[in-house]
Amino acid sequence: MGASRAVDTLLCMRTIIEPFRIKSVEPIRMSSLEERRALLERVGWNLFSLRSEDVILDLLTDSGTGAMSSAQWGALMCGDESYAGSPSFQRFEASVREVFGFEHVVPTHQGRAAEHVLFHTLGGAERIVPNNTHFDTTGANVEASGARAVDLPCPESTDNSSPFPFKGNVDVDRLSSLLEANPGRVPLVMVTVTNNAGGGQPVSLANLRATREVCERHCIPLFLDACRFAENAFLIQQRERGQEGRALGEIVHDMFRLADGCTMSAKKEGLANIGGFVACRDDALARDLRRRLVVTEGFPTYGGMAGRDLEAVAQGLREVLDQDYQEYRHASICYVTEHLAKCGIPQILPAGGHAIFLDAGRFLPHLEWNQFPGQALAIELYLEGGIRSCEIGSLMLARTDAETGEEQPAPQELLRLAIPRRTYTQSHMDYLLEVIEAVWRRRAEIPGITIEEAPAVLRHFTARYGRMAGAACAGGGAGGGASRCDR
Ligand code: F0G
Repeated sequence: MGASRAVDTLLCMRTIIEPFRIKSVEPIRMSSLEERRALLERVGWNLFSLRSEDVILDLLTDSGTGAMSSAQWGALMCGDESYAGSPSFQRFEASVREVFGFEHVVPTHQGRAAEHVLFHTLGGAERIVPNNTHFDTTGANVEASGARAVDLPCPESTDNSSPFPFKGNVDVDRLSSLLEANPGRVPLVMVTVTNNAGGGQPVSLANLRATREVCERHCIPLFLDACRFAENAFLIQQRERGQEGRALGEIVHDMFRLADGCTMSAKKEGLANIGGFVACRDDALARDLRRRLVVTEGFPTYGGMAGRDLEAVAQGLREVLDQDYQEYRHASICYVTEHLAKCGIPQILPAGGHAIFLDAGRFLPHLEWNQFPGQALAIELYLEGGIRSCEIGSLMLARTDAETGEEQPAPQELLRLAIPRRTYTQSHMDYLLEVIEAVWRRRAEIPGITIEEAPAVLRHFTARYGRMAGAACAGGGAGGGASRCDR
């Protein structure tokens, strides 16, 4: 149905058409280079500490930053705010069951709360939780329970220029060895779809099947971190042999049939501004999750969400499977990655599902990992054009080696430009490209970063930084004027 018609449209037309009209707008305040420099100095060069009014394009995250549809705004008014037994919860539960096929649905206020409830129920000292790559909050929640988080991405995941279509895959051989070497210590295996910390790269159905087989052999449950489940299904449809032309909902069913449960941040592909859940098939596990939920989140029929937010997510989970929407979203991300590739700007290819990932290590090869090239680049994009992005490198993901006490760098130094859903248009993407090109031209003078002050856990959110000597001068401010590669 939608699949083939929309593909035809895309093939014939050069312009990406956003499949929506805009009913309500939010102004963007323009700012000058001097103003941005002063603002960043004041907040210790940490972009998380900026006020959003001081940002021109906010690509910090795709989480909770999307635009809701008129159907979602309408559904909000139907929110029933009863403490117990709200019909809004029933609609939420029905939608999650319909899309994912899990019997038990435990609502939480966002994804990390779902992780907290799950890992404090199944984790604990001496335990190990494998994942293709834990996102920062997922790893932090596993480790807060006393367990160890182990990342097992496939070997292709670190070759940024290889065209391998499923760099989010789990390294099934290493998973198998880990389970054999640690009998009784692995309470569940997680797979993150798409793999956010590894470049928003998808996991293939074949890899999910192989992971499932290994889990079954060891009688260990498989859970998916489902934040970006529909983008993963779309990339399966586009890239996996035998999946082309299938409806996204069917592919989602195939993915989740292989799992025993999932955690979800509805701030991503629930197309809502808040919300999440854990879902599972097992009655006893669901009972334990609900018991914990009441202590930390709320009663099991709202779990930290307002009735109106349950309604918005119930509607959003269905909208996110719209073929035209997913095609436009991916086309606008590819529009950026293809242009960057033409200019020779290092990035993760092929394009992932929710973001453009610049390879900051190769963009700024004169900086060591502990001079934080990802953060250095994030600062320059803000200075140049008011763009807020997010380092996904050693600031966020470095780990301290338990034996030596030394800090180990992240596997890659990346800068993520996350694209909020249904929020920006193609001209915003053109502006983004202009800013990146301007920074690329003066890359040799970009200084590294020092940490002046940071907490032990999740330090990137609140740390203060310094810039090393030799700060380069950013270009002409918003819109900056310099010549650019052809588009
Ligand atoms: N899992 C993944 C894969 C995520 O990307 C996130 C959040 C979470 C879990 C936690 O969900 O924020 O609702 O508590 N990622 C956001 C991001 C913050 O910017 O990528 P949450």
